[in-house]
Amino acid sequence: MKKFSLWLAAVLALPLTAVAQQRQVYELRAWDFSRDSINWKPVSVPHDWAIEGPFDKKWDLQIVAIEQNGEKEKTEKSGRSGALPWIGRGHYTTTISLPQLAGRRALLEFDGAMAEPEVYVNGRRAGGWAYGYTPFRLDVTSLLHAGDNRIDVHLQNVEESSRWYPGAGLYRPVRLTLTPRLAIDPWATALRTVAASPQEATLQVETQIDGAGGRQNLAVEVSVMHPGGWVERAAHVGVDGQGRAAADIVLPRPHLWSPESPYIYKVEMALYEDGRLVDQTVMKTGVRTVSVDSVHGFRLNGVSRKLKGVCLHHDLGPLGAAVNRAALVRQVKQLKDMGADAIRTAHNMPSQMQMEIYDSLGMMVMAESFDMWRYPKCRNGYARFFDAWSDRDIAQLVLANRNHPSVVMWSIGNEIPEQWSEEGRDIARRLQDLCHRLDPTRPVTQGMDRAEAALKSGFAQVMDVPGFNYRVYKYDRNLRQLPQRFLLGSETASTVSSRGVYKFPVVFQVARAYADGQCSSYDTEWCSWSNLPEEDFMAEEDKDYDIGQFVWTGYDYLGEPTPYDEYWPSRSSYFGIMDLAGLPKDRYWLYRSEWNRQDHTLHVLPHWTWPGREGKVTPVFVYTDYPEAELFVNGRSQGRVRKAAGLQVDDQQPATGSVARERARRYRLMWDEVRYEPGELRVVAYDAQGNRAAETSVKTAGRASGIKLETDRRQLHADGEDLAYVTVSLVDKNGTELPTATDEIEVSVSGTGRFRGICNGDATSLESFVQPRMKLFSGKLVVTVQAGTAPGVLRLAVADKRARLERTIDIAVE
Ligand code: GAL
Repeated sequence: MKKFSLWLAAVLALPLTAVAQQRQVYELRAWDFSRDSINWKPVSVPHDWAIEGPFDKKWDLQIVAIEQNGEKEKTEKSGRSGALPWIGRGHYTTTISLPQLAGRRALLEFDGAMAEPEVYVNGRRAGGWAYGYTPFRLDVTSLLHAGDNRIDVHLQNVEESSRWYPGAGLYRPVRLTLTPRLAIDPWATALRTVAASPQEATLQVETQIDGAGGRQNLAVEVSVMHPGGWVERAAHVGVDGQGRAAADIVLPRPHLWSPESPYIYKVEMALYEDGRLVDQTVMKTGVRTVSVDSVHGFRLNGVSRKLKGVCLHHDLGPLGAAVNRAALVRQVKQLKDMGADAIRTAHNMPSQMQMEIYDSLGMMVMAESFDMWRYPKCRNGYARFFDAWSDRDIAQLVLANRNHPSVVMWSIGNEIPEQWSEEGRDIARRLQDLCHRLDPTRPVTQGMDRAEAALKSGFAQVMDVPGFNYRVYKYDRNLRQLPQRFLLGSETASTVSSRGVYKFPVVFQVARAYADGQCSSYDTEWCSWSNLPEEDFMAEEDKDYDIGQFVWTGYDYLGEPTPYDEYWPSRSSYFGIMDLAGLPKDRYWLYRSEWNRQDHTLHVLPHWTWPGREGKVTPVFVYTDYPEAELFVNGRSQGRVRKAAGLQVDDQQPATGSVARERARRYRLMWDEVRYEPGELRVVAYDAQGNRAAETSVKTAGRASGIKLETDRRQLHADGEDLAYVTVSLVDKNGTELPTATDEIEVSVSGTGRFRGICNGDATSLESFVQPRMKLFSGKLVVTVQAGTAPGVLRLAVADKRARLERTIDIAVE
């Protein structure tokens, strides 16, 4: 094997040169990768070895009964974990050139490695981990030397170990940190807001000095700084015989962190030995309090609010599990525009990159850990590791994340089968206590799907925050048995839809399989255990005890193609409010109309290009925050419709088809008898006073006469990682998009950047995410392009050979 890699050293810029020599961080990006230890190729980490495909039902073909879905018989589940080649072994190797360690300590840090990583340094075992989502650190001081050092990581993924696509490889950053022998450890440092008001806040800083071993001559200088660098308050604190230092720092007129105002303070800590500076580090945090009780519900900074959250899997669609800052930022911006303020990291530990973005852009987080404990939900799942590893995994989750202001609660599990047993209750108590010991400031929750069983065993009653997955109609009953006197919709909706696909006749129903493998974008289909968004809106609005919800899911994800678990080809979910390409489905506007209180929403569906449906009933729905609207087809009024009042969740039974349809009228405006004719569908919205307030329309599209390109970014950073997402569609001569086009699009990138991925949001597509061509799905696809490391221009060229159309777009790389 020929060698090797380059490493990128990001030396922390510190004001004092004496210290700058001491603490160094090396981001380990360049590795060689192999599946068989024979054939190697250079890769850039974060890296997901399976995302290149090809898709095939043979990968992780599971012949199982999904008990959580109420199945009794085993059947073939082909796309359950994404139908991508993530099973098996993978090997990574890199070489890093180091200076003399000169008494420094070396920590090799993995933000997660999929899965069961075994790490070797210079041929000697440095350690390993079991769970692929856990951040972990290995002390490799004794294994390193000055000069070239080789690091090898061996991974293995076993079949039937996941209910979804987990990704494969070093999918999150890896770094090596050299610290002085006497050092401040960020994971041993807690930054806690213990009190906060607009007038004053108290930030408690506690740290444990590494290597302090009984010394009496240490002190720490703590400075709380604003983002611009000016110091708000500083404190000089002694270090006790156990190496501990603590200070309560009072901040006058603090900038309190919230999703609306995500203010980040820097906390600089300088460690002195006999008055000589020996280590210095800067951490970030936000100042805010979190509480939950039966009187005020959930409170951030003392203000009650309901969580408007979404559950997110960790994969990033066509990028797979390889984490990327720009991809995550794009998600947060879209979710915030929808009015969401919270994310549940379902069902595992988030990456640090994610958490930093949630901190700085303002998203509250339920940071989750497990999808199972002892009792396996899939044959080789985490249950294999639970007894030996669960305490360590929970500890890592809390220690790595407790200084992120965005985290508002910990979750110790999702739909844990043991919820009906006393053993389960005892484990819940143990894991919750562990969270409390490591972080006394946040409540602990978990998502329960068997309300009666969990209430009978006492499992639900022990939780700080009882979280219930689905079954809104049971909330009232659950509440009566809960000493907490409040509850959280830890997982809601599971409505299914395919972007831009509309099924006729429009039926409100438990999702069924259609021949084309798609679900209706009329947002009328849910799972047997779940419901439409409207049921959750009603609970959120009408029930004081309901502290909010996390919708399943914000984005489609790889694997779990319910209701097509047994259908091939289908390899990704239909639950998303956004599709796998990150394009909003109609449902996006339904949530936006209810959650975004700053901006108006007026969205009409379906599209209006239906050759062959002339004269046929084609219902029209409008999602809007306005209470009333009038619909026109080619200028002829179809009547004025107002949102219905007086509708509520039934506390006895789930909504059936016709009941769900009626209740939906509280939130959506529906014209059920419209007959299609080509032309224009126009809607005029009226405000609460009856004034004409807004108007929108959709038109019938003609033949393709151009390509439309819309980019989310016009300028990228020349860092080799930044991304732009360019949406491609076809338009007719009037600029109207062709909503059903399926043409194949070819793309090429020139200049300072490269093609990174392509995705159309079609769960049944087996086209590769990494080849520069794909068919449009419901008229659209999204191309992801990646900046190079040199400044210049990235040019994306897009061609539709069938329609003989071409178009380019230039993106600046700076
Ligand atoms: C829940 C589960 C999720 C997902 C969802 C689909 O029961 O917690 O992980 O499977 O169902 O509706």
